[in-house]
Amino acid sequence: MPDAVKNTDKVINLRVLLNTMTLDINLNGLRVVVTASSRGIGFNVARELLRRNARVVISSKNIRNLQRAKEELKGAGEVHAVRANLYDHKELENLISVSWELLGGIDALVWNAGNISCEPCLLHEASYQDWLDAAKLHTIAPGYLTTLLVRKWLEKRTKGTLIYLNSVSVKEPMPPLVLADVSRAGLIQLAKSVSRTYGSQGIRAYSVLLGSFDTPGARENLRRLAEERGEPFEETWEREVLSRTPLHRTGKWEEIGSLVAFLLTEEAEYMLGSTVVIDGAMSRGIVI
Ligand SMILES: NC(=O)c1ccc[n+]([C@@H]2O[C@H](COP(=O)([O-])OP(=O)(O)OC[C@H]3O[C@@H](n4cnc5c(N)ncnc54)[C@H](OP(=O)(O)O)[C@@H]3O)[C@@H](O)[C@H]2O)c1
Repeated sequence: MPDAVKNTDKVINLRVLLNTMTLDINLNGLRVVVTASSRGIGFNVARELLRRNARVVISSKNIRNLQRAKEELKGAGEVHAVRANLYDHKELENLISVSWELLGGIDALVWNAGNISCEPCLLHEASYQDWLDAAKLHTIAPGYLTTLLVRKWLEKRTKGTLIYLNSVSVKEPMPPLVLADVSRAGLIQLAKSVSRTYGSQGIRAYSVLLGSFDTPGARENLRRLAEERGEPFEETWEREVLSRTPLHRTGKWEEIGSLVAFLLTEEAEYMLGSTVVIDGAMSRGIVI
């Protein structure tokens, strides 16, 4: 093969390598717990973090789903599974203590939740129990997990990062998600409070406002909405999901994975307490 061709190949290979290196953050064994992660956003974020060399505990309330998810993920890196129903404070305590043992410590929590059972439901349809469920899932569970972890990190004098996966609908309301959104809007406040109070001790927190991601949960929600409206699912999906962004698509797992991985690195330190939006310009407002 002529030298010129060989050299061109080398240049191209070097470019591919550099691209891979810059795109893929190496988390170097960072110990991360991801909640609600047997499928959907939590599962895919866990996989993206494993791909970037994190050591991960996944968690959900259904042990069978969790085992299936662990099987699927184990080729990607070191993954453990701990069952935890996010509505149960004892199981939250167990999640932290067992994960701590399995990983030999916890460096970060990526908070993710499921959907409350009344969703999609409008304000006038909600029962008192629906409100309690929304508050327990989207306010109390992440708040209590934060308390448990911050306490541990202070005790051990170690750094820690909290990333609250949240929804862009806390910024621009979507009426059928109102119970969830009212109760998870506080995660913005939580990230700022944690960061202001403990930032000087290396404890950081962020709130990430997500646009649309193609998950089983999103499809189930939209299917129910389509049925209620008596229209074909594809029409609802087109109007409520795809056409809401100029990109006419849902978010990709590499995109959310890279963002979360970056927030977990020290390079995100000066973004302390921030709310970050990843929504393909779905939201129209210019201020968070
Ligand atoms: N998809 C989107 O476009 C989008 C956009 C913005 C925000 N969000 C929010 O992101 C979150 C995840 O959405 P998704 O679309 O990925 O949902 P999904 O596909 O339904 O996945 C939900 C996950 O939560 C787990 N889970 C459900 N109830 C639980 C409980 N009580 N305790 C512990 N784990 C539980 C499920 O596992 P098991 O069934 O195995 O327990 C599953 O792993 C939701 O809060 C949603 O509102 C979604």
